[in-house]
Amino acid sequence: MHHFEYRDGVLSCEQVSLAKIADEVGTPFYCYSSATFLQHLEAYKKAFSGVDSIICYSVKCNGNLAVLNTLSKAGAGADIVSGGELFRALKAGVQPGKIVYSGVGKTPEEIRYALEVGILMFNVESPIEMITLNRIAGEVGVKAPVAIRVNPDVDPRTHAYISTGMKKNKFGIAIERALVEYRAASEMGNIEAIGVDCHIGSQITELEPFADALVKVKRLIRTLREEGQDIKYLDIGGGLGISYDDEVPPTPMEYGEAILGVVGDLGCTLILEPGRSIAGNAGVLVGKVLYTKEGEEKRFLISDTGMNDIVRPSLYDAFHGILPVIEGGDLRLADLVGPICESGDFIAKDRVLPALEQGELFAVMSSGGYGFTMSSNYNARPRVAEVMVSGDKYRVVRRRESYEDLISGEIIPEDI
Ligand SMILES: Cc1ncc(COP(=O)(O)O)c(C=O)c1O
Repeated sequence: MHHFEYRDGVLSCEQVSLAKIADEVGTPFYCYSSATFLQHLEAYKKAFSGVDSIICYSVKCNGNLAVLNTLSKAGAGADIVSGGELFRALKAGVQPGKIVYSGVGKTPEEIRYALEVGILMFNVESPIEMITLNRIAGEVGVKAPVAIRVNPDVDPRTHAYISTGMKKNKFGIAIERALVEYRAASEMGNIEAIGVDCHIGSQITELEPFADALVKVKRLIRTLREEGQDIKYLDIGGGLGISYDDEVPPTPMEYGEAILGVVGDLGCTLILEPGRSIAGNAGVLVGKVLYTKEGEEKRFLISDTGMNDIVRPSLYDAFHGILPVIEGGDLRLADLVGPICESGDFIAKDRVLPALEQGELFAVMSSGGYGFTMSSNYNARPRVAEVMVSGDKYRVVRRRESYEDLISGEIIPEDI
Protein backbone atom coordinates (compact mmCIF):
# COMPACT_ATOMS: atom_id res chain seq x y z
CA MET A 1 0.00 0.00 0.00
CA HIS A 2 1.24 3.47 -0.89
CA HIS A 3 1.24 6.06 1.85
CA PHE A 4 2.16 9.08 -0.30
CA GLU A 5 -0.87 9.86 -2.44
CA TYR A 6 -3.06 12.75 -3.49
CA ARG A 7 -6.08 13.24 -1.24
CA ASP A 8 -8.54 15.85 -2.41
CA GLY A 9 -5.91 17.16 -4.81
CA VAL A 10 -3.14 17.57 -2.21
CA LEU A 11 -0.16 15.24 -1.88
CA SER A 12 -0.42 13.59 1.51
CA CYS A 13 1.56 11.32 3.77
CA GLU A 14 -0.86 8.77 5.15
CA GLN A 15 -3.81 11.02 6.10
CA VAL A 16 -1.91 14.26 6.56
CA SER A 17 -1.60 16.88 3.83
CA LEU A 18 1.96 17.93 3.05
CA ALA A 19 0.65 21.45 2.39
CA LYS A 20 -0.65 21.61 5.97
CA ILE A 21 2.70 20.48 7.37
CA ALA A 22 4.50 23.02 5.17
CA ASP A 23 2.20 25.69 6.48
CA GLU A 24 2.83 24.82 10.10
CA VAL A 25 6.48 23.69 10.05
CA GLY A 26 7.82 25.72 7.12
CA THR A 27 9.96 24.35 4.30
CA PRO A 28 12.11 22.47 3.58
CA PHE A 29 11.31 19.40 5.67
CA TYR A 30 11.63 15.64 5.46
CA CYS A 31 8.39 13.79 6.03
CA TYR A 32 8.32 10.11 6.99
CA SER A 33 5.45 7.65 6.99
CA SER A 34 5.63 5.35 9.98
CA ALA A 35 3.19 2.92 8.35
CA THR A 36 5.56 2.56 5.40
CA PHE A 37 8.53 1.79 7.65
CA LEU A 38 6.52 -0.86 9.44
CA GLN A 39 5.11 -2.31 6.21
CA HIS A 40 8.61 -2.74 4.80
CA LEU A 41 9.90 -4.33 8.00
CA GLU A 42 6.96 -6.74 8.04
CA ALA A 43 7.66 -7.73 4.44
CA TYR A 44 11.18 -8.79 5.47
CA LYS A 45 9.92 -10.63 8.55
CA LYS A 46 7.44 -12.57 6.43
CA ALA A 47 10.01 -13.38 3.77
CA PHE A 48 12.39 -14.86 6.36
CA SER A 49 9.80 -16.38 8.70
CA GLY A 50 10.96 -19.90 7.82
CA VAL A 51 14.32 -19.46 9.59
CA ASP A 52 15.72 -17.77 12.68
CA SER A 53 16.55 -14.24 11.67
CA ILE A 54 17.28 -10.78 13.06
CA ILE A 55 16.56 -7.73 10.94
CA CYS A 56 19.26 -5.24 11.83
CA TYR A 57 18.03 -2.07 10.14
CA SER A 58 20.93 -0.04 8.76
CA VAL A 59 21.12 3.15 10.83
CA LYS A 60 23.20 5.06 8.27
CA CYS A 61 20.21 5.11 5.96
CA ASN A 62 17.97 7.10 8.28
CA GLY A 63 19.00 7.28 11.91
CA ASN A 64 16.36 9.61 13.32
CA LEU A 65 15.52 8.45 16.84
CA ALA A 66 11.80 8.27 16.09
CA VAL A 67 12.49 6.06 13.07
CA LEU A 68 14.80 3.77 15.04
CA ASN A 69 12.33 3.61 17.90
CA THR A 70 9.44 2.72 15.58
CA LEU A 71 11.42 -0.10 14.02
CA SER A 72 12.92 -1.41 17.24
CA LYS A 73 9.50 -1.56 18.90
CA ALA A 74 8.47 -3.75 15.98
CA GLY A 75 11.39 -6.08 16.69
CA ALA A 76 14.23 -4.71 14.58
CA GLY A 77 17.85 -4.56 15.65
CA ALA A 78 20.45 -2.22 14.17
CA ASP A 79 23.41 -2.33 11.83
CA ILE A 80 25.86 0.38 12.85
CA VAL A 81 29.13 1.73 11.49
CA SER A 82 30.23 4.16 14.20
CA GLY A 83 30.09 4.98 17.88
CA GLY A 84 27.65 7.76 17.05
CA GLU A 85 25.29 5.30 15.39
CA LEU A 86 25.61 2.99 18.41
CA PHE A 87 24.69 5.89 20.68
CA ARG A 88 21.68 6.70 18.52
CA ALA A 89 20.50 3.10 18.40
CA LEU A 90 20.75 2.70 22.17
CA LYS A 91 19.00 6.04 22.81
CA ALA A 92 16.19 4.90 20.54
CA GLY A 93 15.73 1.71 22.54
CA VAL A 94 17.43 -0.87 20.32
CA GLN A 95 18.62 -3.84 22.39
CA PRO A 96 22.44 -4.16 22.37
CA GLY A 97 22.02 -7.89 21.72
CA LYS A 98 20.49 -7.04 18.34
CA ILE A 99 23.25 -4.69 17.15
CA VAL A 100 25.94 -5.60 14.62
CA TYR A 101 28.88 -3.33 13.94
CA SER A 102 30.54 -3.08 10.51
CA GLY A 103 32.97 -0.50 9.12
CA VAL A 104 36.58 -0.47 7.97
CA GLY A 105 37.74 2.19 10.41
CA LYS A 106 36.48 1.45 13.92
CA THR A 107 38.47 3.48 16.45
CA PRO A 108 39.72 1.98 19.72
CA GLU A 109 37.23 4.17 21.63
CA GLU A 110 34.35 2.99 19.46
CA ILE A 111 35.38 -0.65 19.90
CA ARG A 112 35.58 -0.25 23.67
CA TYR A 113 32.13 1.38 23.77
CA ALA A 114 30.58 -1.45 21.76
CA LEU A 115 32.27 -4.09 23.92
CA GLU A 116 31.10 -2.42 27.10
CA VAL A 117 27.46 -2.30 26.04
CA GLY A 118 27.60 -5.88 24.77
CA ILE A 119 26.61 -5.79 21.12
CA LEU A 120 25.75 -8.98 19.25
CA MET A 121 28.65 -9.06 16.81
CA PHE A 122 31.57 -7.13 15.34
CA ASN A 123 31.95 -7.49 11.60
CA VAL A 124 35.72 -7.31 11.35
CA GLU A 125 37.11 -5.89 8.13
CA SER A 126 40.90 -6.37 8.40
CA PRO A 127 43.47 -8.58 10.18
CA ILE A 128 44.87 -5.64 12.16
CA GLU A 129 41.39 -4.69 13.30
CA MET A 130 41.05 -8.26 14.68
CA ILE A 131 44.30 -7.90 16.64
CA THR A 132 43.16 -4.52 17.98
CA LEU A 133 39.76 -5.91 18.94
CA ASN A 134 41.41 -8.83 20.74
CA ARG A 135 43.61 -6.46 22.72
CA ILE A 136 40.79 -4.13 23.73
CA ALA A 137 38.49 -7.03 24.63
CA GLY A 138 41.27 -8.25 26.94
CA GLU A 139 41.42 -4.83 28.59
CA VAL A 140 37.65 -4.72 29.01
CA GLY A 141 37.66 -8.31 30.28
CA VAL A 142 35.22 -9.79 27.75
CA LYS A 143 35.34 -12.04 24.72
CA ALA A 144 34.53 -10.17 21.52
CA PRO A 145 31.90 -11.92 19.39
CA VAL A 146 33.00 -11.59 15.76
CA ALA A 147 32.25 -12.33 12.17
CA ILE A 148 34.71 -11.60 9.42
CA ARG A 149 33.24 -9.44 6.71
CA VAL A 150 34.27 -11.33 3.62
CA ASN A 151 34.67 -9.71 0.26
CA PRO A 152 33.37 -12.24 -2.27
CA ASP A 153 34.50 -10.33 -5.37
CA VAL A 154 31.05 -10.18 -6.92
CA ASP A 155 29.89 -7.33 -9.13
CA PRO A 156 26.57 -6.04 -7.76
CA ARG A 157 25.99 -4.04 -10.97
CA THR A 158 25.16 -0.82 -9.14
CA HIS A 159 26.71 2.67 -8.94
CA ALA A 160 30.48 2.41 -8.40
CA TYR A 161 30.30 4.47 -5.20
CA ILE A 162 27.92 2.01 -3.55
CA SER A 163 29.54 -1.21 -4.73
CA THR A 164 31.38 -2.80 -1.79
CA GLY A 165 32.02 -6.45 -2.55
CA MET A 166 34.60 -6.31 -5.33
CA LYS A 167 38.35 -6.84 -5.03
CA LYS A 168 39.03 -3.19 -5.78
CA ASN A 169 36.80 -2.01 -2.89
CA LYS A 170 38.17 -1.22 0.56
CA PHE A 171 35.64 -3.40 2.37
CA GLY A 172 36.08 -6.76 4.05
CA ILE A 173 38.72 -9.45 3.72
CA ALA A 174 39.07 -11.38 0.45
CA ILE A 175 37.08 -14.56 0.81
CA GLU A 176 40.10 -16.68 -0.18
CA ARG A 177 42.02 -15.23 2.80
CA ALA A 178 39.19 -15.48 5.28
CA LEU A 179 39.97 -19.05 6.34
CA VAL A 180 43.47 -18.11 7.39
CA GLU A 181 42.13 -15.16 9.35
CA TYR A 182 39.50 -17.28 11.10
CA ARG A 183 42.28 -19.70 12.10
CA ALA A 184 44.35 -16.80 13.41
CA ALA A 185 41.34 -15.47 15.33
CA SER A 186 40.76 -18.86 16.94
CA GLU A 187 44.23 -18.56 18.49
CA MET A 188 43.38 -15.20 20.06
CA GLY A 189 42.30 -15.39 23.68
CA ASN A 190 39.65 -12.71 23.62
CA ILE A 191 37.92 -13.40 20.31
CA GLU A 192 35.01 -15.71 19.70
CA ALA A 193 34.20 -16.23 16.03
CA ILE A 194 30.45 -16.78 15.86
CA GLY A 195 29.57 -15.64 12.36
CA VAL A 196 30.38 -14.77 8.77
CA ASP A 197 29.33 -11.47 7.21
CA CYS A 198 29.01 -10.28 3.62
CA HIS A 199 27.59 -7.02 2.26
CA ILE A 200 28.16 -6.43 -1.45
CA GLY A 201 26.63 -3.03 -2.13
CA SER A 202 23.50 -0.95 -2.27
CA GLN A 203 20.61 -0.29 -4.67
CA ILE A 204 21.01 -3.77 -6.14
CA THR A 205 18.11 -4.60 -8.44
CA GLU A 206 18.93 -8.20 -9.39
CA LEU A 207 19.08 -11.36 -7.30
CA GLU A 208 22.07 -13.03 -8.96
CA PRO A 209 24.81 -11.00 -7.24
CA PHE A 210 23.37 -11.86 -3.81
CA ALA A 211 23.09 -15.55 -4.69
CA ASP A 212 26.56 -15.67 -6.27
CA ALA A 213 28.11 -14.15 -3.15
CA LEU A 214 26.28 -16.49 -0.81
CA VAL A 215 27.32 -19.60 -2.73
CA LYS A 216 30.90 -18.63 -1.89
CA VAL A 217 30.05 -17.76 1.69
CA LYS A 218 28.27 -21.06 2.20
CA ARG A 219 31.37 -22.95 1.10
CA LEU A 220 33.41 -20.99 3.63
CA ILE A 221 30.98 -21.69 6.47
CA ARG A 222 31.06 -25.43 5.71
CA THR A 223 34.87 -25.43 5.76
CA LEU A 224 34.97 -23.45 9.01
CA ARG A 225 32.58 -25.85 10.65
CA GLU A 226 34.64 -28.83 9.46
CA GLU A 227 37.57 -27.21 11.22
CA GLY A 228 35.55 -27.02 14.41
CA GLN A 229 34.58 -23.33 14.34
CA ASP A 230 31.07 -22.84 15.67
CA ILE A 231 29.53 -20.49 13.13
CA LYS A 232 26.03 -19.65 14.32
CA TYR A 233 25.30 -16.44 12.45
CA LEU A 234 25.30 -15.56 8.80
CA ASP A 235 25.02 -11.82 8.19
CA ILE A 236 23.93 -11.30 4.59
CA GLY A 237 24.17 -7.48 4.73
CA GLY A 238 21.69 -5.19 3.04
CA GLY A 239 21.58 -3.85 -0.46
CA LEU A 240 18.17 -4.61 -1.93
CA GLY A 241 17.27 -1.78 -4.28
CA ILE A 242 14.10 0.28 -4.53
CA SER A 243 12.19 1.91 -7.31
CA TYR A 244 13.24 5.54 -7.74
CA ASP A 245 12.22 5.74 -11.38
CA ASP A 246 11.38 2.71 -13.49
CA GLU A 247 13.55 0.11 -11.75
CA VAL A 248 11.72 -3.07 -10.82
CA PRO A 249 13.72 -4.51 -7.93
CA PRO A 250 12.91 -7.90 -6.45
CA THR A 251 10.43 -7.83 -3.57
CA PRO A 252 11.64 -8.88 -0.09
CA MET A 253 9.72 -12.13 -0.66
CA GLU A 254 11.60 -12.88 -3.91
CA TYR A 255 14.84 -11.86 -2.23
CA GLY A 256 14.06 -14.15 0.72
CA GLU A 257 13.33 -17.09 -1.57
CA ALA A 258 16.59 -16.58 -3.45
CA ILE A 259 18.63 -16.27 -0.25
CA LEU A 260 17.02 -19.20 1.51
CA GLY A 261 17.42 -21.25 -1.66
CA VAL A 262 21.18 -20.97 -1.18
CA VAL A 263 21.75 -20.79 2.58
CA GLY A 264 18.43 -21.87 4.12
CA ASP A 265 19.80 -25.31 5.03
CA LEU A 266 22.87 -24.07 6.94
CA GLY A 267 21.04 -23.82 10.24
CA CYS A 268 22.49 -20.36 10.85
CA THR A 269 20.55 -17.49 12.36
CA LEU A 270 20.39 -15.03 9.48
CA ILE A 271 21.17 -11.39 10.11
CA LEU A 272 19.87 -8.90 7.55
CA GLU A 273 21.01 -5.29 7.29
CA PRO A 274 18.44 -3.61 5.04
CA GLY A 275 18.43 0.18 4.90
CA ARG A 276 17.20 1.68 1.66
CA SER A 277 14.50 -0.93 1.07
CA ILE A 278 13.00 -0.03 4.46
CA ALA A 279 13.49 3.73 4.55
CA GLY A 280 13.87 4.93 0.95
CA ASN A 281 10.23 5.02 -0.06
CA ALA A 282 9.08 5.87 3.45
CA GLY A 283 10.00 9.54 3.14
CA VAL A 284 9.90 12.63 0.96
CA LEU A 285 11.64 15.98 1.09
CA VAL A 286 9.29 18.91 0.66
CA GLY A 287 10.60 22.19 -0.70
CA LYS A 288 9.30 25.42 -2.15
CA VAL A 289 10.13 27.28 -5.35
CA LEU A 290 11.75 30.61 -4.46
CA TYR A 291 12.23 31.89 -8.00
CA THR A 292 11.84 30.75 -11.57
CA LYS A 293 14.47 31.91 -14.00
CA GLU A 294 14.75 31.71 -17.76
CA GLY A 295 18.44 31.04 -18.33
CA GLU A 296 20.09 31.46 -21.73
CA GLU A 297 19.75 27.76 -22.44
CA LYS A 298 17.27 26.44 -19.96
CA ARG A 299 14.63 27.18 -17.39
CA PHE A 300 15.54 26.92 -13.71
CA LEU A 301 13.29 26.29 -10.78
CA ILE A 302 15.29 27.70 -7.88
CA SER A 303 14.15 26.15 -4.64
CA ASP A 304 14.79 26.53 -0.94
CA THR A 305 16.28 23.03 -0.74
CA GLY A 306 19.46 21.82 -2.38
CA MET A 307 22.46 19.56 -2.25
CA ASN A 308 23.17 20.20 1.41
CA ASP A 309 19.73 18.75 2.24
CA ILE A 310 19.76 15.95 -0.34
CA VAL A 311 23.10 15.14 -1.92
CA ARG A 312 22.19 12.01 -3.88
CA PRO A 313 21.53 13.75 -7.23
CA SER A 314 24.85 15.64 -7.04
CA LEU A 315 26.87 12.73 -5.67
CA TYR A 316 25.51 9.79 -7.65
CA ASP A 317 23.57 11.52 -10.41
CA ALA A 318 20.63 9.85 -8.71
CA PHE A 319 17.08 10.17 -9.98
CA HIS A 320 14.28 11.29 -7.66
CA GLY A 321 10.70 11.77 -8.85
CA ILE A 322 9.41 15.33 -8.38
CA LEU A 323 5.71 15.82 -7.67
CA PRO A 324 3.79 19.03 -7.12
CA VAL A 325 2.14 19.12 -3.71
CA ILE A 326 -0.99 20.53 -5.33
CA GLU A 327 -2.14 18.00 -7.93
CA GLY A 328 -2.27 18.77 -11.63
CA GLY A 329 -0.78 21.57 -13.71
CA ASP A 330 1.43 21.53 -16.75
CA LEU A 331 4.81 19.91 -17.27
CA ARG A 332 7.84 21.74 -18.59
CA LEU A 333 11.50 21.06 -19.27
CA ALA A 334 13.60 22.60 -16.49
CA ASP A 335 16.34 22.10 -13.91
CA LEU A 336 15.25 22.00 -10.29
CA VAL A 337 18.17 23.52 -8.40
CA GLY A 338 18.99 24.71 -4.91
CA PRO A 339 20.46 27.92 -3.50
CA ILE A 340 23.97 26.49 -2.93
CA CYS A 341 26.92 28.12 -4.68
CA GLU A 342 27.89 25.05 -6.72
CA SER A 343 26.88 24.17 -10.27
CA GLY A 344 26.54 20.61 -8.98
CA ASP A 345 23.69 21.77 -6.77
CA PHE A 346 20.70 20.26 -8.52
CA ILE A 347 17.86 17.97 -7.55
CA ALA A 348 16.66 17.24 -11.08
CA LYS A 349 18.50 18.19 -14.25
CA ASP A 350 17.16 18.50 -17.81
CA ARG A 351 13.91 16.96 -16.76
CA VAL A 352 10.29 17.38 -17.70
CA LEU A 353 9.02 18.64 -14.37
CA PRO A 354 5.85 20.13 -12.92
CA ALA A 355 5.69 23.70 -14.23
CA LEU A 356 5.90 25.21 -10.79
CA GLU A 357 5.79 28.94 -10.11
CA GLN A 358 7.15 31.04 -7.27
CA GLY A 359 5.88 29.91 -3.87
CA GLU A 360 4.65 26.52 -5.03
CA LEU A 361 5.53 23.36 -3.13
CA PHE A 362 7.03 20.15 -4.47
CA ALA A 363 8.03 16.80 -3.04
CA VAL A 364 11.28 15.01 -3.80
CA MET A 365 10.07 11.44 -3.75
CA SER A 366 11.86 8.38 -2.29
CA SER A 367 14.04 10.51 -0.02
CA GLY A 368 13.55 8.62 3.23
CA GLY A 369 16.91 6.86 2.93
CA TYR A 370 20.32 8.50 2.58
CA GLY A 371 18.52 11.84 2.62
CA PHE A 372 18.77 13.60 5.95
CA THR A 373 21.66 11.38 7.12
CA MET A 374 23.82 12.64 4.25
CA SER A 375 22.82 16.27 4.71
CA SER A 376 25.21 18.98 5.83
CA ASN A 377 25.43 22.60 6.91
CA TYR A 378 27.26 23.66 3.74
CA ASN A 379 26.78 27.36 2.95
CA ALA A 380 25.86 27.75 6.66
CA ARG A 381 22.42 26.38 6.03
CA PRO A 382 20.62 25.05 9.10
CA ARG A 383 19.60 21.43 8.60
CA VAL A 384 15.91 20.96 7.87
CA ALA A 385 13.15 19.70 10.12
CA GLU A 386 12.10 16.05 10.11
CA VAL A 387 8.47 15.09 10.56
CA MET A 388 6.91 11.70 11.22
CA VAL A 389 3.32 10.90 10.28
CA SER A 390 1.18 8.15 11.72
CA GLY A 391 -2.38 7.96 10.41
CA ASP A 392 -3.93 11.40 10.81
CA LYS A 393 -1.25 12.76 13.16
CA TYR A 394 2.14 14.24 12.57
CA ARG A 395 4.96 15.18 14.92
CA VAL A 396 8.19 17.10 14.38
CA VAL A 397 10.82 14.47 15.22
CA ARG A 398 13.76 16.77 14.69
CA ARG A 399 13.34 20.48 14.88
CA ARG A 400 14.79 22.70 12.20
CA GLU A 401 18.24 23.93 13.20
CA SER A 402 18.64 27.56 14.17
CA TYR A 403 21.50 29.92 13.40
CA GLU A 404 22.62 29.43 17.00
CA ASP A 405 22.82 25.68 16.37
CA LEU A 406 25.17 26.43 13.48
CA ILE A 407 27.78 27.96 15.76
CA SER A 408 27.21 25.96 18.93
CA GLY A 409 30.51 24.35 19.80
CA GLU A 410 32.59 26.97 18.00
CA ILE A 411 35.05 29.01 20.01
CA ILE A 412 36.93 32.22 19.20
CA PRO A 413 40.12 31.79 21.23
CA GLU A 414 41.24 34.81 23.17
CA ASP A 415 44.94 34.05 23.01
CA ILE A 416 45.45 33.28 19.31
C1 LIG B 1 27.65 -2.78 5.99
C2 LIG B 1 26.39 -2.27 5.43
N1 LIG B 1 25.25 -2.89 5.76
C3 LIG B 1 24.05 -2.45 5.29
C4 LIG B 1 23.96 -1.37 4.45
C5 LIG B 1 22.62 -0.94 3.98
O1 LIG B 1 22.49 -1.08 2.63
P1 LIG B 1 21.11 -0.76 1.91
O2 LIG B 1 20.66 0.56 2.37
O3 LIG B 1 21.44 -0.80 0.48
O4 LIG B 1 20.14 -1.85 2.30
C6 LIG B 1 25.13 -0.71 4.06
C7 LIG B 1 25.09 0.41 3.11
O5 LIG B 1 25.68 0.41 2.08
C8 LIG B 1 26.37 -1.16 4.57
O6 LIG B 1 27.51 -0.54 4.26
